[in-house]
Amino acid sequence: MLKEKVAVITGASRGIGKEIALTFAREGATVIVNYNGSKGAAEEVVNTIINEDRKAEAYQCDIADFQKTAEMMDYIIKKYKRIDILVNNAGITKDNLLLKMSEEDFDRVIDTNLKGAFQCTKHVAKQMIKQRSGRIINISSVCGIIGNAGQANYCAAKAGMIGLTKSAARELATRGITVNAIAPGFIETDMTDALSDTIKDEILTQIPMKRLGSVKDIAQMAVFLASEKAGYITGQVININGGMAM
Ligand code: NAI
Repeated sequence: MLKEKVAVITGASRGIGKEIALTFAREGATVIVNYNGSKGAAEEVVNTIINEDRKAEAYQCDIADFQKTAEMMDYIIKKYKRIDILVNNAGITKDNLLLKMSEEDFDRVIDTNLKGAFQCTKHVAKQMIKQRSGRIINISSVCGIIGNAGQANYCAAKAGMIGLTKSAARELATRGITVNAIAPGFIETDMTDALSDTIKDEILTQIPMKRLGSVKDIAQMAVFLASEKAGYITGQVININGGMAM
């Protein structure tokens, strides 16, 4: 479904981003696997793709850095002459109750999860406007919709991504560019592995399907949103959460 497409996926060395990278490559896209600190893991993702006779390369860039994200997009455009798909996936958590949350932890989560998505979008939009086509997919969260105690910074960033998605969708709609968000519920990755058993049990009580989702559930939707088939879908938030929020 993504033959000849050039796709950038932020934070693609593991978890949801990794699965999106592998799935996009299997669908025929050339994938730029962005990573920040995990060089080895990013290279493993690239090697897996190349061993399957598909195309990928790894690119180190802290997406919270405005200038570095511009340089990353410039490099890709120079080399591949286009960018068809951007998936703003990279994200971090620095959880704490509001009264205990430091300014630094608030800022770092906003800078990575929200500002990172803003600047990656800004730097690819110019190229996509030139191409008169593009797909931008923002990985938000169910927590950006219903909130979560202990995650004021994360939920604010993820809710912010939804506003960013809708505004960018309106601005870019006449240029053949769609912008959508996926709001996953709780998905089995390193991020959720870090939660204690008590919190996991508590989460399960809130999910009608009584299980966590898999990275494949998210990657399949990302492929669809990136494909020609989703050409008339823009500014939407697709909930993939086992019924946790309806
Ligand atoms: P993860 O922690 O396994 O992977 C996140 C990736 O982002 C890692 O590869 C990490 O190195 C990268 N990253 C972090 N900061 C970065 C930076 N400054 N620059 C570049 N890369 C950076 O997380 P997971 O679970 O795969 O989550 C992916 C996205 O999905 C995140 O945005 C997360 O908030 C979101 N999400 C995850 C859910 C879950 O249950 N796992 C639920 C809802 C949303």
